[in-house]
Amino acid sequence: MNDEILILAIETSCDDTSAAILKNDMVLSNIVSSQKIHEIYGGVVPELASREHDKLIVPVVKEALSKANISLTEIGVIAYTRGPGLLGSLLVGSSFAKSLSISLNIPIIEINHMQAHILSIYIKDNISSPKFPFLALTVSGGHTQLVRVESAVNFKELGATLDDAAGEAFDKCGKMIGLDYPAGPIIDNLAKNGNPKSFKFSKPRVEGLNFSFSGLKTNFKNFINSKSDQFIKSNMNDLCASLQNTIVEILIDKIKKAYNKHDIPHFVICGGVSANSFLRHKLKELEISDNIYTYFPKVSYSTDNAAMIGIAAYFKFKQSIFGKLTDQSTSRYPIS
Ligand code: KG4
Ligand code: ZN
Repeated sequence: MNDEILILAIETSCDDTSAAILKNDMVLSNIVSSQKIHEIYGGVVPELASREHDKLIVPVVKEALSKANISLTEIGVIAYTRGPGLLGSLLVGSSFAKSLSISLNIPIIEINHMQAHILSIYIKDNISSPKFPFLALTVSGGHTQLVRVESAVNFKELGATLDDAAGEAFDKCGKMIGLDYPAGPIIDNLAKNGNPKSFKFSKPRVEGLNFSFSGLKTNFKNFINSKSDQFIKSNMNDLCASLQNTIVEILIDKIKKAYNKHDIPHFVICGGVSANSFLRHKLKELEISDNIYTYFPKVSYSTDNAAMIGIAAYFKFKQSIFGKLTDQSTSRYPIS
């Protein structure tokens, strides 16, 4: 087998239409078109997301090829996100990838989106990456998941959220205090000028390595409903800092628990919430206090993107693990 492969990767699981070209583990291009249409609804509207993917997929793939200076006929394998995600959105990517695989007569590789988030740490231009086995925390708008990664094709879920995702907690609570969607990065910014100890919000008591954020959401909602608009306005920074502090404490507690149970001090932290500056600060402290080491994919590989699908495909390609044209996309596609 030729040891150099050009991979075209497609990601359409939620509201980002993305295509990337990789030469082995090196990204030549990674185009992400984030759908703005959902902003006015305060969350992703699945029907609109699929239509936008349908409109954007061809131009986005063309742009990825052109930026990488690669012609379609040079591509050796096509990778796509099979799940989990919004079904209509996934179907756009899988149908496109399968059609291209037939017309170019090249193999296809199906990828689990959550595995791809974690493996994005192995894209060549990241600063550092852990050796296997390691633990991973994926925190995004749709998922909160702790995973034990034995190898690039062997994952075991240790815990996940029982209700809302960490990003959802940021976004939904942010909406309650009048912030735009997605509220996570806005809260991160406002919190920099606030006191994290100003207000105390409830932390759930969830057994094992699972998470829950719905109790915090209800607690926050009740607190906000009991206050005037003026109070919220004049305490905005403190509210953001205290909310952020609670979410981050919930995540840090579970990281410590997972370390104690599995005796693996290396954690990959990925998904949109991993961009949170307070979380990063607290994780840095963990390195000193508990010898727990964390690895972050570059921000451009941390939020939804096709380069991460490409790197996951590269690992499968090396082991000749190919998909079938009859593989069905699935909104619930467990990581292990
Ligand atoms: O991984 P992602 O881009 O998309 C998926 O949900 O799959 O994650 C988006 C989530 C949103 O909930 C957003 O509010 C959150 O990541 N987020 C942040 C920050 N940047 C993005 N949350 C807290 N602090 C941030 N700096
Ligand atoms: Zn994602």
